[in-house]
Amino acid sequence: MTQATSSYKDGPAISVKGLEKGFGKFQIHKGLDLDIPRGKVTYIMGGSGCGKSLLLKQVMGFIRPDKGTIQVNGQIMDHKDQKNLHEIRKNMGILFQHGALFDSLNVYNNVCFSLKEHLNLSKKELDENVENLLESVGLSMEHSLKMPSELSGGQRKRVALARAIALKPSIMMYDEPTTGLDPITTMMVTNLIKDVSSRHNLTSIVISHDTHVVFTVAEQIAFIKDGVVRYAGPPKGVFKSHDPDVREFYSLEERYNTED
Ligand SMILES: Nc1ncnc2c1ncn2[C@@H]1O[C@H](COP(=O)(O)OP(=O)(O)OP(=O)(O)O)[C@@H](O)[C@H]1O
Ligand SMILES: [Mg+2]
Repeated sequence: MTQATSSYKDGPAISVKGLEKGFGKFQIHKGLDLDIPRGKVTYIMGGSGCGKSLLLKQVMGFIRPDKGTIQVNGQIMDHKDQKNLHEIRKNMGILFQHGALFDSLNVYNNVCFSLKEHLNLSKKELDENVENLLESVGLSMEHSLKMPSELSGGQRKRVALARAIALKPSIMMYDEPTTGLDPITTMMVTNLIKDVSSRHNLTSIVISHDTHVVFTVAEQIAFIKDGVVRYAGPPKGVFKSHDPDVREFYSLEERYNTED
């Protein structure tokens, strides 16, 4: 059943409570609680295999939790109700690590792919949308006829992001958007995520291993270990935590910062 609370706009954009998920004898999420604040960029960190991507997949409704609830914009996700899942997903966009563009489509057709699929827009309206979307990721219509193979890695990310926000989601999720990029492109993509989030007033969730970048730009951090969230809050709060694992995470960062 769809349940909307009247004041959901004042509360977190996403609220995960008591999430449990396992595969066979491997229990990955063990009662994970996490609130994602509205209109901010939250970075999710944690070791490889701790369940970061799995958390996003459950938030997107692609994978069903074993236990617990996921509330998005005031609606509790219900896997028995396809309409409810569709409603919730409609408001969410995701950008995967490789930001896969359709190789056989030019930039224009990549960007307006979902617009064409979901909305009945005229050519003029499509043109306007594509122009605005390209502009908001720092590109112009000059790039629109290029094929993905003619773009740099950073430009491909920009196009993938323009495509992901085409249907105006209120929540954007990024699974390791900067992994494998050089430091300059990493910073560029990181700033782009920040700019697009504030320009479109998005709630953003970014999974990242770039500790240094995260501590520089994040408004919120969530640190996952052993199936639960061990720290959630502003980056500064990590330094005050008494949790030894959170402190270790912090000292790794400190070491990282002082190494040249
Ligand atoms: N569909 C699935 N079937 C079986 N096991 C899965 C499935 N999805 C995830 N897992 C397991 O759940 C655990 C968490 O996976 P997840 O992809 O969330 O890790 P992660 O935190 O994103 O790691 P990384 O930083 O390496 O991307 C892993 O042990 C993985 O093998
Ligand atoms: Mg992952």
